[in-house]
Amino acid sequence: MNKKTVRDIDVNGKRVLVRVDFNVPLDKEGNVADDTRIRAALPTIRYLVENRARVILASHLGRPKGAFNDRYSLKPVARRLEELLGREVIMVEDVVGEIPRQAVAGLGEGQVMMLENVRFYAEEEKNDEKFARALAELADIFVNDAFGAAHRAHASTEGVARIIPGVAGFLMEKEIEMLGRALSSPDRPFVAIIGGAKVSDKIGVIGNLLGKVDTLIIGGGMANTFLKAKGLDMGKSLLEGDKVDLARELMDRAAAAGVKFMLPVDLVVSRAADPEAERRVVPADRVPEEWMALDIGPESAGMFGKAIREARTVVWNGPMGVFEMAPFAGGTFSVARSLAESGAVTIVGGGDSAAAVEKAGVAGRISHISTGGGASLEFLEGRQLPGIVALQDK
Ligand code: 3PG
Repeated sequence: MNKKTVRDIDVNGKRVLVRVDFNVPLDKEGNVADDTRIRAALPTIRYLVENRARVILASHLGRPKGAFNDRYSLKPVARRLEELLGREVIMVEDVVGEIPRQAVAGLGEGQVMMLENVRFYAEEEKNDEKFARALAELADIFVNDAFGAAHRAHASTEGVARIIPGVAGFLMEKEIEMLGRALSSPDRPFVAIIGGAKVSDKIGVIGNLLGKVDTLIIGGGMANTFLKAKGLDMGKSLLEGDKVDLARELMDRAAAAGVKFMLPVDLVVSRAADPEAERRVVPADRVPEEWMALDIGPESAGMFGKAIREARTVVWNGPMGVFEMAPFAGGTFSVARSLAESGAVTIVGGGDSAAAVEKAGVAGRISHISTGGGASLEFLEGRQLPGIVALQDK
């Protein structure tokens, strides 16, 4: 990685503003329901504490639209972090201004404080320069460990790094290295599995990966559009009619590039997206008129699994079916297990596929599960993420 990290700078006694992505789900009682993103930032926070930095954490939580709102307060997150860290996390009730200024002034070496939700100010998402300056004034150095928010050019992810020196945290470094290596110098065969509901969400990723992979596997709702492009009748399946030509074009490009393009050969179909509805497995070219495809079938799962097990690098983004409903989760869980069984470097690009490997109970056997949803998608599209670009080069 060509960006400086916390290892490259002296943090001893310095005030360090650390942008983390603690945008985590909360349960009905307002407690943290999934602390994966908090755990993922611990190495950076611990390193800074051990090296006697004064640690000031900043994050967003949800989309409070520029106003203070208790529902989006980072207080429960600070409590969870305190438990995981085993030391006090001083919660500050504001983001910029007098309250944080005073809190920072009283912050000792190795102490940790957390600002309130940066999105309580509309200026954050506008990347307002004055707001970025007010944030920057709190610190000497900026550390960005929020890979999940690196695709946003906001004040706390991008603006602040133009004012004080910005370097990457360990999570940011790991994400860039794992995803970056897969794209730039993968061990081969390199297999990518792309799923999810819509082709339109993944055009950029497919386009970028076509120039890099040996095999491209398509599953999930978006496979219906490709199957349609091959002339198959998809019944009442979810389908993007206006993307059929594009699907055909992508398959032609794959053929021209010598990329093996794999689509489901069988499907789990049902009369409705309802776990109680009647369902059956049919060949992909035999979807009954009034039925819809909701998962890949067992033969497809076996075929995809074989390609995954024979690969040396695997990137997976997007489920194979409606895996939130048990009767249609088989294909997604099977792909998750194949990744776990593969000797390849396996990378799961955030969001739904990350949730799927957790649910399948194989998360511990995946080389890297990205903490980014939108960010990992944009990274795989080959785009420059503003939160990374803004950091100092080595
Ligand atoms: C995420 O959860 O993907 C990140 O935290 C970014 O959140 P956002 O989509 O609200 O910017």
